[in-house]
Amino acid sequence: MSEILKRGPVVAIDGPAGTGKSSATKRLADALGFIHIDTGALYRSIASLMLQRGGIVEEGASKEELEAFGVRATELARSVHLEFKRVAGKNPANRIFADGKDITDFIRTSEVSMAASRVSAVSGVRAALLGLQRQMGCVGKSILEGRDIGTVIFPDADIKFFLTASVDERAKRRLSELEVAGADAPSFQEVKTQIIARDHGDSSRAIAPLKKAEDALQIDTSELTLDEVVKTMETWVRERLGLSK
Ligand code: DC
Repeated sequence: MSEILKRGPVVAIDGPAGTGKSSATKRLADALGFIHIDTGALYRSIASLMLQRGGIVEEGASKEELEAFGVRATELARSVHLEFKRVAGKNPANRIFADGKDITDFIRTSEVSMAASRVSAVSGVRAALLGLQRQMGCVGKSILEGRDIGTVIFPDADIKFFLTASVDERAKRRLSELEVAGADAPSFQEVKTQIIARDHGDSSRAIAPLKKAEDALQIDTSELTLDEVVKTMETWVRERLGLSK
């Protein structure tokens, strides 16, 4: 795989949006003392910057428009410097910076979610972010969450999870997240339609589509509490890596 040397075990967590991946990953990383890398935030950052520059293609765009969009998104992904930094006193403390500017508060809107799905289908963008994700995962004991961590970014990850949940349950969770964040909350049906559209985009794209790695442990979180999901994962990781409690 990569020529970069891993400085500690890597845990890969993949799955569609709204399966509780982010919350579970955060909690698991804290419990184990691992670094948490939210790779979706990288795609969201590119999407948010593209939106600011007025450059996201619309549904039904022509082949030429799609190509031009791909070129611009790739240029941006290659040139922008993205990094995660912990900032005390901020919520969340783990912030994403693009060329030195904290853009964390702009990347969670529904508009950016849809744009991120578009941006993430561009092969040049994925290629530009691949090395960065590997570097980030290699700095120490780390947990990366995303769509293709166990299949493409770290096919030799020490441990892999694949989280799933029913579409209704995921829409319910996403809606309450938006409400808590104080965003203009769309209707349940709108959120559900968006989730189905993003699932379709993420799973059907030609390059690095969302799919379970053969050696990943699949967890259906529909009927589980966050505590139960984290406990299941923590027990599995500790057993497999021989970590004491
Ligand atoms: O996990 P998220 O919702 O923040 O991800 C935002 C988008 O980025 C989503 O449409 C899928 C895409 N993504 C991806 O293609 N590969 C990753 N490793 C992470 C996210």
